[in-house]
Amino acid sequence: MLPQRQERPMSRTDMPEWKRLEEQAKGLKDQSIAALFDQDPKRYEAFHAAFDGIMMDYSKTSITNDVMSALLSLAKACDVEGARDRMFAGEPVNNTENRAVLHTALRMDARESLDLNGVDIIPEIHGVLGRMQAFSDKIRAEKKFTHIVNIGIGGSDLGAYMACEALKAFCDRDIKMHFVSNVDSTDLAEALLAVKPEKTLFIVTSKSFTTQETMTNARSARAWLEEKLGRPDVDAHFVAITANTDEARRFGMDDESIFPMWDWVGGRYSIWSAIGLPVCISVGFDNFSAMLAGAREMDRHFCAAPLEKNLPVLFGMVGVWHRNFCDFPAVTVAPYDQYLHSFIAYLQQLDMESNGKRVDRDGNVLDYETGPIVFGKPGTNGQHAFFQLIHQGTTVIPVEFIAALQPQQPMGDHHKKLMSNCIGQSKALMDGLRPGNTHKEFTGSRPSVTILLDVLDPYHLGMLMALYEQKVFVQGIIWNINSFDQWGVQLGKVLADKVMAKLDGGDMDSLDSSTAALVNAVKAGSVRGE
Ligand code: F6P
Repeated sequence: MLPQRQERPMSRTDMPEWKRLEEQAKGLKDQSIAALFDQDPKRYEAFHAAFDGIMMDYSKTSITNDVMSALLSLAKACDVEGARDRMFAGEPVNNTENRAVLHTALRMDARESLDLNGVDIIPEIHGVLGRMQAFSDKIRAEKKFTHIVNIGIGGSDLGAYMACEALKAFCDRDIKMHFVSNVDSTDLAEALLAVKPEKTLFIVTSKSFTTQETMTNARSARAWLEEKLGRPDVDAHFVAITANTDEARRFGMDDESIFPMWDWVGGRYSIWSAIGLPVCISVGFDNFSAMLAGAREMDRHFCAAPLEKNLPVLFGMVGVWHRNFCDFPAVTVAPYDQYLHSFIAYLQQLDMESNGKRVDRDGNVLDYETGPIVFGKPGTNGQHAFFQLIHQGTTVIPVEFIAALQPQQPMGDHHKKLMSNCIGQSKALMDGLRPGNTHKEFTGSRPSVTILLDVLDPYHLGMLMALYEQKVFVQGIIWNINSFDQWGVQLGKVLADKVMAKLDGGDMDSLDSSTAALVNAVKAGSVRGE
């Protein structure tokens, strides 16, 4: 009698579609990307996709027709389309928190409807949008406030900051936007040095309204304002954006100062909700609506386009090929547009907080890789920072180039130079160079994807953000993980509280010698004598 083989749950690596890709990867391990163009000079035609002013060129990768066919077979076998439809329909796809995931509903048209637990949520969503419009219109018309300080962190900061920066060409330059996120008092102090108390509106942005950094900064900002203006005025200078209205009321907000959001919107997906209020104030509600419209158009494309022409599916599967079958550990995002300078930080939370997971949806430890390390810098600056490694390092890291064809600030030949650098870099990564001197040798066959927007306006920014959101979703389904929880951020917070107690005089016995030494150094205020 053979011992019972320990039955382990079926893994993605057991799937025939996965095994086929593993075989293909072995055969393509030394494939020159440039040679693929020699074999098929029209290769670009088959390995790009585009619609409505956005184009994605993934031909400078090692993906062949057979590989793409196998990738799309894997997507079908993993039921990407079914999972997509379940998310859009409001099923509790965030299974560990038993929540729906409906950031897509936030950008649906007012004439549509979506039933969540028996209630059509579209009227409530558009009710909040109406309040955002009225409030931001008033702020922009009256100029009673010319400094807006958003206090928030993570998804309560990154998306709004990124969108304000990306759309700066559309902003009202008489209204200065400030974003405070870090509990390091430097962040708040520097903002307060830059504003006039009587002209300042604070937006306390926190889905939970309990995040330590945000509530510390909000209380300190309130104390500062009380000192400057006196208590009665504080209420007129604060609004809250939150899913926890009780906590916001306890802070002192009255209901007309509270813009609600919902627990079926994850923080890193929340820019489309009242979290976008700073964007409405900075660039106007009509431009925020255009951003919503661009994201809505990408959603519609994602839900309707066949897999082989579906930009989020193609983008996601290219990443799966690179991560799981080429074993690339990271991806570099290189927006060749200075207005997108904070797009990478926004993507880091979107991608790494969604797909930085080691167990599947049922809690089984995975035997394959998941979310890549996401990093980057705007071009051309990245070329002068880490592109040495991208070109000649021992680790191959695919690059995602992003560029807008129409500059928002045309000046001489700047844009032509910017575009020539962007395109030149992707070609250099592919072609390489073999001058006979290994110090100066470029191996080439370093993959890249290039995304081109007609123009970086609100509509196309919305399309780009939704493209990345749905790419992350597709990869999460392939990896069979829950992309919508973030248990990994909790332990650090708990231990920070324990350290805080030690700093406040608690006993140090239970600490390891390193942590105890570090706590003692903080108490001493110096490491002299260590
Ligand atoms: O990083 C952890 C996290 O919970 C994010 O998911 C969230 O965007 C951020 O902290 C801020 O949370 P809140 O909006 O509740 O303050």
